[in-house]
Amino acid sequence: MEKKTIKKNYSFKIKLIKKYNESYYDKNISLVSDDVYDTLKKDILKLEKNHSFLNSKFSPSENVGFKPSKNFKKVAHKVPMLSLGNAFSEKDLDNFEKKIKNFLSLEEKIKIYYNAEPKIDGISASLTYKNRKFYKGLSRGDGKEGEDITENLATISDIPKVISSKDFPEEIDIRGEVFIQNSDFANLNYKFANPRNAASGSLRQKNPNDTQKIPLKFIAYTFGYEKGLLVENQSDFIKKLSEWGFKTNPLNKIICGVKNLIKNYNEIEKKRANLNFDIDGIVYKVNDFAMQKRLGNVASAPRWAIAHKFSSNKAVSKILDIEIQVGRTGALTPVAKIKPINIGGVIVSNATLHNEDEINRKDIRIGDTAVIERAGDVIPHILSVDTTKRLKNSKKFEFPNKCPSCGSETIKEFNTLTKKTDAVRRCSSEDYYCKKISIEKLKHFVSKEAFNIDGLGKKIIEGFYKLKFIKFPQDIFQLDYDKVEKLEGWGALSVKNLKYSIDQKKNISLERFIYSLGIRHIGLENAKLLSKHFVSFSKFKNLSKTKKYEDLLNIDGIGETQVKSIKRFFGNEINLQVLNELEKILIVKNASIIKNNGLLKNQSFLVTGKLNGISRAEAKSLIEENSGITASIVSKKLNYLIIGEKPTKRKVESAKELKIKIINQDEFLKILNKTS
Ligand code: IVH
Repeated sequence: MEKKTIKKNYSFKIKLIKKYNESYYDKNISLVSDDVYDTLKKDILKLEKNHSFLNSKFSPSENVGFKPSKNFKKVAHKVPMLSLGNAFSEKDLDNFEKKIKNFLSLEEKIKIYYNAEPKIDGISASLTYKNRKFYKGLSRGDGKEGEDITENLATISDIPKVISSKDFPEEIDIRGEVFIQNSDFANLNYKFANPRNAASGSLRQKNPNDTQKIPLKFIAYTFGYEKGLLVENQSDFIKKLSEWGFKTNPLNKIICGVKNLIKNYNEIEKKRANLNFDIDGIVYKVNDFAMQKRLGNVASAPRWAIAHKFSSNKAVSKILDIEIQVGRTGALTPVAKIKPINIGGVIVSNATLHNEDEINRKDIRIGDTAVIERAGDVIPHILSVDTTKRLKNSKKFEFPNKCPSCGSETIKEFNTLTKKTDAVRRCSSEDYYCKKISIEKLKHFVSKEAFNIDGLGKKIIEGFYKLKFIKFPQDIFQLDYDKVEKLEGWGALSVKNLKYSIDQKKNISLERFIYSLGIRHIGLENAKLLSKHFVSFSKFKNLSKTKKYEDLLNIDGIGETQVKSIKRFFGNEINLQVLNELEKILIVKNASIIKNNGLLKNQSFLVTGKLNGISRAEAKSLIEENSGITASIVSKKLNYLIIGEKPTKRKVESAKELKIKIINQDEFLKILNKTS
């Protein structure tokens, strides 16, 4: 390549990193993900290595971090705050240890002990103590010069202001990480993309009162300048830190040998998702201070320490399109179609955008370059977009206010329980009007927990719907198999098998049947409760005539939300037709056959108050399984009133008046020959 082109390419990258740095350190806004930033940094360093004529004072080779924000006074670190080299593999660790042994001219068999410290992904700070008092607190800045953020750091309760231990050095810079716990981050009113940004933002507030509002933590792990420190190794230093009143990482460990470092790395990586703080690797430090001193530093990193990074499950790709998917309940879910990319061995071409709010919050647009994360088995999602790579003519994504499938208005519901507007926008159409909703309802109808029809997968349902073979659930049982057989990919045998599995499923339990209808808020558990309540299909269907919806509130577990949804379902003419048609085709078994000669035969019970160890719903089913009757009011017909904790006074009083036997939980279990 021509020198001119190389220079041009280099200065473009320098300009970019300068912009990212300024935004991050001055405005506290992260324009790109860590991955994008690291790649850019690596590119610049590589160019400089290959072409000695390249240099810039804005290059990362000149600065450990970046110049601190102008808002705070700059103060030089007495001892620079270094960065760490990275290791990604066992080979990298072998090299790290080899270099140490070479440098110190140690024999191969000599054992080196390391202190392994999970690397918290936060903001580093240096706290100067003079005469056992917190004197000054600095941010890292460019490693040589930091910002005076003493007042902000002083608001952190993990940072001791006065130290009483007599063996605390006369003067010392205690260094560590300021961070925010994931649980606290989750409770913050949204403002930052991740806990790290939240910690950084909080520390940079002009007014310390604002810093105090965010629950920051501090974990100490090293020191800078010191006068009078009487410790010989890192693990003893960590012990001392904790005696002096600092928080230290509970997962720190002394380890010897690369194989054991790897073992610990794998164990910690497994725990990673369940920790309350983000870690991005493990820092290994030669434990012995005398050895550390001999090893010294290379450029801006020590020879005696390295960061063993966790492999990233993130990647950068382009958003080709944003599609709106319509779910069974009408929810509109935006999905980003991305340029296919390999993330941790899996080719990803779709990433969920969750909902409208998420798109607005992150200002995600078609054509954007985005960071996509794939964690475990969950659907990949967009972490952030790189606004600097955005084309000039890019437009804000307009979330449709009409359903993309049927054109109906879309609405955001108001939840009366939480008193909040739903984040999800929904198609407002009624059941089976919207094509996409219908297809999703049919998929649900044949799904595993519903009719569980073998050979009728999602793709087939979609195909049959498009060919107008099916529109409503009943159509599945009246398929024109001659037409199916003529379709490409179908033959006599596969059609025969399909017919067999569909016919076989005409027998179904009431609870599965209710579940298969896909009434919103009626999942498996609620379908079970409803089936026990109604016992038969005809009684269930009759609800549209009796309209006794409010009675359903007496069922333990069924609340206003469910009742509202059931009412809506029965209020729709098409649903009633579906029920009528299905009644003609199916054999719906009555709810669990109750024993007629059980222990509680001809006895009625009513529970009031909270029972110990079992729910009211469970007590009810216990009664019914043993041929008892569960009553909902105290009347002359009632045999027993079972009282738990805080019973309803009126029920107890009327039972007394009517001379009904009042028993407690133990007495009830005794009747059942069960002891608690
Ligand atoms: S030691 C010379 N110990 O990692 C040693 N750093 O890339 C440098 N970090 O700026 C620091 N946990 O923000 C050290 N236990 C730990 C650490 C740790 C997190 C961060 C720190 C530092 C960066 C180095």
